[in-house]
Amino acid sequence: MKKVVLAYSGGLDTSCIVRWLKDKGYEIICFVADLGQGLGQGESFEAIEERALAAGASKVYIKDLQDEFIDDFVVPALKANAIYEGKYLLATALGRPLIAKYLVQIAHKEKAQCVAHGCTGKGNDQVRFEVTAGILDPKLEILAPVREWEFKSREEEIEYAMAKNIPIDVTKKKPYSIDRNIWGISIEAGILENLEHEPPEDAYLITKSPAGGTTYPKYIEIYFEKGKPKKIDGKVWKLKDLINHLNVVGGTYGVGRQDLVENRLVGIKSREIYEAPAATILHIAHRELESLVLDRETAHFKEIIALKYSELVYYGLWYSPLKQALDGFVDSTQEFVTGSIKLKLTKGVCAPVSRKSPNSLYKKELSTYGKEDKFNQKLAEGFIKIWGMPYQR
Ligand code: ARG
Repeated sequence: MKKVVLAYSGGLDTSCIVRWLKDKGYEIICFVADLGQGLGQGESFEAIEERALAAGASKVYIKDLQDEFIDDFVVPALKANAIYEGKYLLATALGRPLIAKYLVQIAHKEKAQCVAHGCTGKGNDQVRFEVTAGILDPKLEILAPVREWEFKSREEEIEYAMAKNIPIDVTKKKPYSIDRNIWGISIEAGILENLEHEPPEDAYLITKSPAGGTTYPKYIEIYFEKGKPKKIDGKVWKLKDLINHLNVVGGTYGVGRQDLVENRLVGIKSREIYEAPAATILHIAHRELESLVLDRETAHFKEIIALKYSELVYYGLWYSPLKQALDGFVDSTQEFVTGSIKLKLTKGVCAPVSRKSPNSLYKKELSTYGKEDKFNQKLAEGFIKIWGMPYQR
């Protein structure tokens, strides 16, 4: 019998996959990754495990990968200032290669010949899973049942699940397709497919409406060490707790919402809304600190790298040579990215208001218009002549 390791979420699609593959003669091992997805009401990892077994899995692995996700995926992307198409902080995209890494690892341990996922044939996530698995072990066969099975709608899947006694709560209506982890939430489908519609408030899970959000400003100071967040308001935090805390604080002020019509890798334009309060706050603070400590040329070049880096993450090329090489560049730029940024949160806005760093390149005696000025203005004349010289005819 062929063995397959399936990336299992506990939802309708992957539960149907378990049974569907079993009926095709496979032995199914389910892998549930805990990336901080915040299980819904009444849901638990025990219940997910039971569901997998009831659907026909022979074994279930559940792993808390939050720390590894943060250290090896989130922090490098933060250091790189990786933001896709100006808005998307890549929460979903960063999670996929890590899940795929464990699919491959478990496949090796269990001597399975295949790995499987529940992605559709229209999205980016199938690419991320399969490209990663292919890089880590090209011999593994990849199964993507949703691309080939007979079900054409959620209703048909529910019918199948009921007929096969798969314990799925079908009473819950699902207005959106949601992917969530500690770094952010991606929400699509339903009414959101209508580009002219403002996203309804009920689509957002962790951010209050900026309009209704708390009015009085909140100040929060974030300290980074070599590009990595370390403290809030002078207190050292474990990174996971720091991110969870900022998700709550930012969410209260309506910070971190995005509404994006994005270019998928497979050529489709799609509309997705995002919530990422902690990621937004940390990106803003990190960028602000870099503006203080990076020299001009490094800072500008790093913006080009950020663009490429975000594409590589989005395109599923996390384990590519170029991504690895860019990490080398980014890491070397973070040597001086130590210091504190104070931010002001008000009604959907997060703005830096104060900054300090032992590595600051800001020299007040050069920039000042006051009498402590040390800049020799006479030098400017010669500099400008030579600077403009190549362009004079
Ligand atoms: N568009 C995002 C990406 O490609 C998120 C995809 C998953 N979204 C979802 N709602 N299930 O990374």
